Amino acid sequence: AASAPLLGKRVVITAGGTREPLDPVRYLGNRSSGKQGVALARAAAAAGAEVELIAAHMDVAPPEGVKTARVETALQLRSAALDAAGRADVVIMAAAVADFRPAEQARTKIKKRDDAADPVITLVRNPDILQELVQQRRDSGTGPALIVGFAAETGDSRGDVLEYARQKLERKGCDLLVLNQVGQDLVFGQDRTAVSILHRNGGEPQTFSGTKDEAARAIIASVAEELG
Ligand code: C5P
Repeated sequence: AASAPLLGKRVVITAGGTREPLDPVRYLGNRSSGKQGVALARAAAAAGAEVELIAAHMDVAPPEGVKTARVETALQLRSAALDAAGRADVVIMAAAVADFRPAEQARTKIKKRDDAADPVITLVRNPDILQELVQQRRDSGTGPALIVGFAAETGDSRGDVLEYARQKLERKGCDLLVLNQVGQDLVFGQDRTAVSILHRNGGEPQTFSGTKDEAARAIIASVAEELG
């Protein structure tokens, strides 16, 4: 149906920013507000999908009536996403996942001490969940029909930014990539955004600017079109 193009489809959406603990009270985090992911969850639900939201830290509440799992760290988001992907038609990785986490988590609050050197934080790499989702689908021969990645890129020109996004789409192996051109107070924490949707199978990227709700509806329309 035109009004419910995702009726009967199971859509998993990750949203927000992970927090990587340093000690019981401190973490490494990022500026993701979760607004785009929540807008996507709302748009997918409005399109008839059964939505599962995997929410890391968000400044906004999850949408009413959407099944939501809360996670904190990249590793927690990873288990939740790999598990949910097994029962999904579409996975949309809108979360800002930390690329690195502290190698060690102190069991007690790190103290400042006059008689000791200042602490040095060693970071280790987090797994790339999007790449793992693609790999899991490839290895098992089953899985979501559509895996959607996000990229926040900066660059000197629109052409540069689109080129970085094209390379990221290739490297990650996902089916669609949503590009946010970051900068000029766009994107993080804002209500307005500009996105381009790149397709693995080529074609011209489609660009939309407007509210995050409008962008979400455009992304969900592309997803529905891609599912056929
Ligand atoms: O490489 P970059 O962080 O720019 O890629 C962004 C995309 O990859 C987003 O869809 C994000 O959710 C996903 N990602 C991930 N695991 C990571 C880092 C990013 O799935 N460790």
